[in-house]
Amino acid sequence: EKGGWSSFMAKEVSEEPDAVANTLRGRIREGHIEIPELDGMDDLLTGIDRILVLACGTAAYAGMVGKYALESWTRVPVDVELAHEFRYRDPVLSPSTLVVSISQSGETMDTLMAVKYARERGAKTLSICNTQGATIPRESDAVVYTHAGPEVAVASTKAFVAQITALYLLALHVARLRGSLSPEQIAENVAELEAIPGKLSRVLETEQDRIEQLAHWMGDTRSVLFLGRNVGYPIAMEGALKLKELAYIHAEGFAAGELKHGPIALIEPGQPVFVIVPSPRAEGEMHRKVISSIEEIRARGARVIAIAEEGDAAVLPLADEVLRIPLAAPMFEPILGVMPLHIFAMGLATAKGLDVDQPRNLAKSVTVE
Ligand code: F6R
Repeated sequence: EKGGWSSFMAKEVSEEPDAVANTLRGRIREGHIEIPELDGMDDLLTGIDRILVLACGTAAYAGMVGKYALESWTRVPVDVELAHEFRYRDPVLSPSTLVVSISQSGETMDTLMAVKYARERGAKTLSICNTQGATIPRESDAVVYTHAGPEVAVASTKAFVAQITALYLLALHVARLRGSLSPEQIAENVAELEAIPGKLSRVLETEQDRIEQLAHWMGDTRSVLFLGRNVGYPIAMEGALKLKELAYIHAEGFAAGELKHGPIALIEPGQPVFVIVPSPRAEGEMHRKVISSIEEIRARGARVIAIAEEGDAAVLPLADEVLRIPLAAPMFEPILGVMPLHIFAMGLATAKGLDVDQPRNLAKSVTVE
């Protein structure tokens, strides 16, 4: 039931804080992770030498975010692949490969077929799924459920933040088993995870109205670009996907570093560009690099909408709009940074008078290949 909400999507975006909180519930004990569903898998998770994440669409973007945490925390190499591409290229698999599938519905045929294919070839399969008892978890060796609650709107929103949460829990669990993070490091990351729901609620309180207003002003925009770097890169692609599917606007997400290798040619005066700005504390001077990307597009007339952490003053003279997210360790920013993009896509579709729950040509669960 959508209750007093204007759409299921509006309700589900407002439930993003709960989706994270409920996915964490019962899985954190005294500063470390316990995932009861994975009891008995310690030897397997200690012995793997590769993780392969398979998913489609938004779930694949969650997987791309998860790759950063999984590799950094567990030191196991991670690949993320679109499920429909995977099984048509004679992939290399072994019993020490852990295949992690991600699916809200648990019924996506492309993902299901990829999981079966991997399992038949000896890989171990773990499903991250939001639907109890769905086909993909049944066809997998193990399942970690996201507890986002039923998602009715076609576009995936609260399931996305829950999927990232589940991947981070998995990464910390594996890191503990393999000793790749110290107990103190695990406790710090656990504390970051536990703080996310409150921070997401704050984004809703402080930014939602402004974003909706912005979307309203941008009602006749024909094209929007999204730039991100590192963990912000999959978020840029997610922002673009949501705008395509809900508002039927041409949108593309790029890695900010890729701009000068081609996409900068698209920038002309007035072109709206969302930029997910990394924290000034991110490694590799990423903040400075993204700021200089903003300077380059700005010099060519782009209209810049920055998503930046509270207190980051460097963006102020460069951006036409700044949407704020609360401070978090850099690895956790994507969970906060994506919600403004969900609100924006929904707001723009609404401004255009479109049905945000049922975009044209799409089905909630894609049960054909
Ligand atoms: C986009 C969207 C889709 C799904 C994709 C996978 O908003 O909802 O891209 O993420 O079809 O669906 P699941 O997660 O059910 O396998």
